[in-house]
Amino acid sequence: MITFDKCKCFKGNIKVPADKSITHRAVIMGSMADGVTVVRNPLISRDTLATMKIMQQLGVNIVNETSRLLIHSEGVKNFKEPYDILNCDNSGTTARLVMGVLAPCSFYSVLSGDASLLRRPMARVINPLAKLGAVIKAKDNNKLLPATILPADMKAGEITAETKSAQVKSAVLLAGVQLEGAVSYIEKTATRDHTERMLQAFGIKCENNDGKITVHGGSLQYTQLDVPADFSSAAFYIGAGLIFEGSEIVIENCGLNPSRTGLLNVLKDLGVDVKYEITSNEYEPIGSIYIKSAKIKGGKVSGDIIANMIDEIPVLAMIALFGEAPLEIRDAKELRVKESDRIAALINNFRELGAEIEEYEDGLKIYPLTKEPEKAKLLAYDDHRISMVNIILAKKFGIKVLMDNIASLDVSYPDFIGDLLSLEEK
Ligand code: S3P
Repeated sequence: MITFDKCKCFKGNIKVPADKSITHRAVIMGSMADGVTVVRNPLISRDTLATMKIMQQLGVNIVNETSRLLIHSEGVKNFKEPYDILNCDNSGTTARLVMGVLAPCSFYSVLSGDASLLRRPMARVINPLAKLGAVIKAKDNNKLLPATILPADMKAGEITAETKSAQVKSAVLLAGVQLEGAVSYIEKTATRDHTERMLQAFGIKCENNDGKITVHGGSLQYTQLDVPADFSSAAFYIGAGLIFEGSEIVIENCGLNPSRTGLLNVLKDLGVDVKYEITSNEYEPIGSIYIKSAKIKGGKVSGDIIANMIDEIPVLAMIALFGEAPLEIRDAKELRVKESDRIAALINNFRELGAEIEEYEDGLKIYPLTKEPEKAKLLAYDDHRISMVNIILAKKFGIKVLMDNIASLDVSYPDFIGDLLSLEEK
């Protein structure tokens, strides 16, 4: 249990940790390339350490110098059969992307994870890989981890997305690049495109024609790259800055990939124009975000934009508690199968604060808080993003807000509390 003191607002400049999605991909593709890849400014967190450990079990030598990783590999064709199971810990990205990497390999491997990951859906990635010839046997009729990946003779082909998921797309592309010919993945709703961008940075031909993403088989060329700061971590400062009157925050050097920044578009539609400026654009756009406190209007957020802000919905829901009118969020059923059932987690916590909330299978409607709660017990549900929302709410009310374990912060933002407090004005 942990309690926080109230603060007036947040002011100053902040650099948030490196992007989790991009770090996973850099570690994976650096391991698949033959040679020495240098990854500067990686995220070192529980999730990315799980990916690194798995690559090491496959025979890759990774030197973790914290501010950079040196990945020495003989390439994916020389990956070795692991002695033990591969533990993806809490990380869905690790499980799904690594499944794609291992599906065409000529050895036996087993993927598993922690209690949360063992509940998360895997058929969405097993089925498309099986269509290309992968042989994967998983628990509960091929739906859950643990999953065993057997040697298979996979063939190039075309897959149509059945789930709006960048993780599934990435698994198919990472298998596809190892096959002869071209593999296409057709998605009606655009999801984050870090894999496509990074494959190109590793010298692979990968193009997107109107949602048909085609990867051409080939060998990844080792490279050097910088990981931008994580927009999803920055989003917590966007939320904190908006809801604490008088706040002024600048987030520096942050990833601003348009397939990730749906939150900024939605806020603009809700009457809050968060300014940002792109200052460089190598394989990913990077820039600064300028936040000043403001209230959103009410309304409804739904449709394709949800895929471009899926990890930021907890923050948007928190902002809505302090909006001018109710906000309805729909088409967000995916939130039920993240590190926790985030729809249920947000609803339970917000009701605990005294807010009126309506629940839908695919979302929630948040009515602004009408009075300050005197005390509340917010639960983290072992979910890093729920924990970070709770911490901001705890700072807002300055009452005893009890929280269960916040160790889950290790997953994406180990020093969130220190960084947030460095901006507080009492
Ligand atoms: C991720 C994609 C998203 C996101 C997750 C990371 C990725 O999941 O929620 O935190 O790195 O590709 P889905 O693509 O399954 O929605």
